[in-house]
Amino acid sequence: MEGGNESRGALIVLEGLDRSGKTSQSSRLLSSLEGLGYSAELWRFPDRTTSVGQMISAYLSNESQLDDRTIHLLFSANRWEKRSLMESKLKSGTTLIVDRYSYSGVAFSSAKGLDVEWCKAPEIGLLAPDLVLYLDIPPEKAAERGGYGGERYERLEFQRKVAQCYHALRDPSWKDVNACQPIEDIERQLREIALDHVTACKIGRPLSNLWL
Ligand code: TMP
Repeated sequence: MEGGNESRGALIVLEGLDRSGKTSQSSRLLSSLEGLGYSAELWRFPDRTTSVGQMISAYLSNESQLDDRTIHLLFSANRWEKRSLMESKLKSGTTLIVDRYSYSGVAFSSAKGLDVEWCKAPEIGLLAPDLVLYLDIPPEKAAERGGYGGERYERLEFQRKVAQCYHALRDPSWKDVNACQPIEDIERQLREIALDHVTACKIGRPLSNLWL
């Protein structure tokens, strides 16, 4: 397994502003891949089931206050505590569809004014996604979608800054998908792009690490 060239699952990340449709599209993508006979799982960050995740959840619902750097490091720790399980799942051939990942970590914290390189530093060495599907929606449109749920970052002005920060993070694994299209069209596009990557990983693309 160490050479990383054997058949493996793909690490597919969905990113986007709050209310961009990531969560429902992640579930649809999972069903499509499973329907085609692929082994796949749906993950999400923050993973609120761990003790670190519970601290994050309390912060997001404004039940606790934390310094901006402290919460950034907790989000990062929440990914680190899942890294080895993530690697073993991928190596055993399971594709992971991940609803938010390191790009959320860097975009949301740098939107608060923290230095981007500082934000990336604790994320160095996490597994790099094979594909980042960015559900692209103007912040104003996202805000119109049934209202925000009352969590800490669900404010239009802040989401505008997050959108700018996301755009600065684009890399070769990144694909924009217009999130204002009908749900079925988005679903089809995501499935087509994802399938190309799942196939590429099956024929032996090695795993790599983030932000290097
Ligand atoms: P969720 O609504 O997808 O559960 O995400 C919770 C909020 O946390 C969302 O506003 C994005 C934000 N977030 C960060 O600030 N840093 C991170 O690393 C992650 C994964 C999410």
